[in-house]
Amino acid sequence: MIVTTKQLFEHAYGKYAIGAYNINNLEQTMGLFRGNLDSQAPFIIQISKGARAYTHKLMLEGLIRSADEVFPNAIFAVHLDHGDEETCYDCIESGFYSSVMIDASHEDFETNVAITKRVVEAAHAKGIVVEAELGQLGGVEEHVKVDEANAKLTDPDQARKFVELTGCDSLACAIGTSHGAFKFTGTQGLRFDVLAEIQSRLPGFPLVMHGSSSVPQEEVARINAAGGNLKGAKGVDATQFRRAAELGVTKINIDTDGRLVWTRVHREHFLEHPENFDLRPVGKIFMTEYAKFIAEKNEFLGSAGQLEAVRQVLEG
Ligand code: G3H
Ligand code: 13P
Ligand code: ZN
Repeated sequence: MIVTTKQLFEHAYGKYAIGAYNINNLEQTMGLFRGNLDSQAPFIIQISKGARAYTHKLMLEGLIRSADEVFPNAIFAVHLDHGDEETCYDCIESGFYSSVMIDASHEDFETNVAITKRVVEAAHAKGIVVEAELGQLGGVEEHVKVDEANAKLTDPDQARKFVELTGCDSLACAIGTSHGAFKFTGTQGLRFDVLAEIQSRLPGFPLVMHGSSSVPQEEVARINAAGGNLKGAKGVDATQFRRAAELGVTKINIDTDGRLVWTRVHREHFLEHPENFDLRPVGKIFMTEYAKFIAEKNEFLGSAGQLEAVRQVLEG
């Protein structure tokens, strides 16, 4: 069942966070649905502009519609990740997405407000909810590259003003995380002090944490042992997710960790079976491993086991 992120956040606020996972293909889609059902968790499917362009935007839509039929017990939102204004309108018009992110965080405050406000008006007219971003994470995003040194943490007073002016439904905040596999090159960590300040200015308002992959060292070591070359990769400590949730974070974005699972499975498989050239045996292993990975993440997020409670609220 496709719902809005807002509906999921109402149940989660202050208690747990919903996992927002990026998908690009069939195998990820299968693993995602299985892992969330195995752990009985509501979830958010994230589709980036790059994912829409990877094959064709309608292919992902078709996959998700089919998965909804194959897994009728799943409860999830379909969300555009890091949208520009044009892509937001395309998703709003499509009638498929229940939620879009407008990311104008690289613009100055006034321009960010103006763009976000336009998207909010168009989305709300169709019952679609909007995530916006204020502050800048380090790392690589769809259309922006930000040095760790230049990452700008979200200003709590500006955050309150931004939400008031734009009418957005949730806010992605920069609180020390960054995108990709190479976070925290220095001694940086999550800024719970900044998060607490933001929550005090926006009590009850859903906050979002991007760049939240954990980049497990064991995963990196396995990839490197199987011929990979990921040096110095480091991520967010997943045991901190629950504390972030208590401080108003209702959505936690994870993409890189899933890519690491894909890389590890494929590297190890072809190293161990150099004679193989069939895509299905390794695809099957990946789907199982991806489902396991999702279920484990949901334990850290606290979303595991919440599915029936969410269903009851939705069905009144
Ligand atoms: O924050 C970006 C996400 O990890 C999506 O990555 O734009 O390469 O699909 P992508
Ligand atoms: P990671 O690169 O840490 O997985 O972050 C993903 C993300 O924020 C997608 O919007
Ligand atoms: Zn992101």
